[in-house]
Amino acid sequence: MERLDKVLSNLGYGTRKEVKALAKDGAIEVDGSIIKDSGMKIDPNICKIRVSGELVNYRKYIYLMMNKPDGVVSATFDNYDETVIDLLEPEHQVFNPFPIGRLDKDTVGLLLLTNDGELNHRLISPKWHVDKVYYAEIDKVVDEKDIEAFEKGITLDDGYKCMPAKLEILQADSDGSKVKVTIQEGKFHQVKRMFQSRDKSVVYLKRIKFGPLDLDTNLIEGGYRELSEKEVEILKKI
Ligand code: URA
Repeated sequence: MERLDKVLSNLGYGTRKEVKALAKDGAIEVDGSIIKDSGMKIDPNICKIRVSGELVNYRKYIYLMMNKPDGVVSATFDNYDETVIDLLEPEHQVFNPFPIGRLDKDTVGLLLLTNDGELNHRLISPKWHVDKVYYAEIDKVVDEKDIEAFEKGITLDDGYKCMPAKLEILQADSDGSKVKVTIQEGKFHQVKRMFQSRDKSVVYLKRIKFGPLDLDTNLIEGGYRELSEKEVEILKKI
């Protein structure tokens, strides 16, 4: 059981004082009855709450899929740059979501955001072997030797030996290459550094898959949506 004012305040309906005023005005209904005492205890999972006639969509956690655009940082706060949180509507910001893992400022594509710390922990731990798939454009010709090196485990500039990674060549010619890379870790600049160790540079990087979830192609860059219950369930099963 939780206080009605706390529930509504957490969902972005204003401060507790503001919610109290709403209740006094008769704007809050619980299971069809107008509730004037905003301190009343209710079970938000069971009760139907309406504010000014509109049904409240109660949930403790939110799970969002964003198509991250270029030039935005995957952080909750930054002194200089726009963050992925800045791109969210206030109704989602009130949940205090944070990105699950990070994409570089110039990397685009699938970024999950949540306020569910437990799920976040599981999804970013290399222990769970969650596949992250990237589409990348490379400045040089990528060949079989690169595929083998990725398979064996690339050693990065700081001496760290990566877990085996899958490299698929989609197109390769003298102008450069288009590839798909699957990794299970999330070291800083990992894909870029893996190619660096092969003396090649990533010129474009887009994450297209995170675990079982593909990037929703209906999302424009900078767009996002809530995950469906089914998608959340699938993620939790990993
Ligand atoms: N690897 C990178 O180099 N950058 C990213 O943003 C993600 C993976």
